[in-house]
Amino acid sequence: MLAIASIVLALSLSALASPLNVTEPLTTGASCTGTISSLDDVAAAVKCTTVVINGFAVPAGETLDLKFATGSTVTMNGDVIFGTKNWDGPLFQISGSNINFNGNGHTFDGQGAFYWDGQSGNGGVTKPAPMMKIKISGTYTNVKVLNSPARVYSVSNPATLVMSKLTIDDSAGDAPNSKSDGLAAGHNTDGFDCSTTDLTIEDSTIHNQDDCLAINKGSNIVFQRNTCIGGHGISIGSISSDATVSGITISGNTITNNDQALRIKTKADATSASVTNVTYSGNTATGIRQFGVIIDQSYPDTLGTPGTGVKISDINFVGAENNIAINSDAQRVAVNCGSGACSGTWDWSALTVTGGKAGTINFSGIENFSQ
Ligand SMILES: *[C@@H]1O[C@H](CO)[C@@H](O)[C@H](O)[C@H]1NC(C)=O
Ligand SMILES: *[C@@H]1O[C@H](CO)[C@@H](O)[C@H](O)[C@H]1NC(C)=O
Ligand SMILES: *[C@@H]1O[C@H](CO)[C@@H](O)[C@H](O)[C@H]1NC(C)=O
Repeated sequence: MLAIASIVLALSLSALASPLNVTEPLTTGASCTGTISSLDDVAAAVKCTTVVINGFAVPAGETLDLKFATGSTVTMNGDVIFGTKNWDGPLFQISGSNINFNGNGHTFDGQGAFYWDGQSGNGGVTKPAPMMKIKISGTYTNVKVLNSPARVYSVSNPATLVMSKLTIDDSAGDAPNSKSDGLAAGHNTDGFDCSTTDLTIEDSTIHNQDDCLAINKGSNIVFQRNTCIGGHGISIGSISSDATVSGITISGNTITNNDQALRIKTKADATSASVTNVTYSGNTATGIRQFGVIIDQSYPDTLGTPGTGVKISDINFVGAENNIAINSDAQRVAVNCGSGACSGTWDWSALTVTGGKAGTINFSGIENFSQ
């Protein structure tokens, strides 16, 4: 009897102790509050399932890399600023399952002005990109990113993730600087680059100099009620070989002063790839500089010779009207499909594009629309 009692006691003690056992996987957290006020605090703090991030400066060349225990609640209590250095980044990276991350409106400051030269990472100085790598499931809300060096969010969630009420403010990159030769100093500042599934991005504001959203592959992605200012619009692509995109909903977004409002671009040399089941509804755009809607299979050219290796089908403008107003020298709608690469019938009954001039549509399966 005594022996059995000791075994039971030993087992229950080890069960109690296990959350604090540092050699165990980090996914099992302890019910304590970990506070991060410098990189030195990270290792201990992420063992707790409640984590508070205070305002502090991350030294140049370091990643604030947080591997949260499953089910953690994380809140920000101050602004985080990253030191400057020409390196690859990322500046911030989070991973974990079922995480509740609330920025409380606080800022991650990438100090972009240090890097901006009007060129991409390849052309100019090395820039930390992406700035923010998000590899959690759960929720990520109320976070501001200020002045990213280049691309902002790369999202690869392990399970369902809702990102909401985010702000990306790269507006300072609109102006030229001494290194940008008269061009906008900020460049390749994509808002969200997504190669993932089961992701919703909503109620966010993005002011940048490149794609507001770029979906490179994946499925079940919703992008809704966001505001995109100044960049290259909402993009699917560019699509490379073997990539598949399906089940995409782009709805209720406001797109202001972008190169294009809505775009699908596939690489001319891509093979064995597909884009299918994309629904646009209730999007509004004004001040569009080049194309209202463009579907182009000739990337990296624009409206060049299209490839045929990416099959495109089931692209629809339905539900609430999509109202797109373009500038006088822009084109309303251009569709440049490779021979046989676009197929089926597409319902464009909820698309209205005004201003500018008509583009060329060379796919005959589009119904309920004329320009
Ligand atoms: C911690 O957990 C590991 C793996 O479960 C185990 O082998 C080790 O004995 C534990 N250490 C302590 C001090 O409990
Ligand atoms: C298209 O995608 C939606 C999600 O956006 C999904 O609910 C629907 O089942 C898909 N339709 C087909 C035919 O796959
Ligand atoms: C669309 O136009 C391009 C360029 O003229 C051409 O190469 C392509 O075959 C055309 N596609 C279709 C489906 O007619």
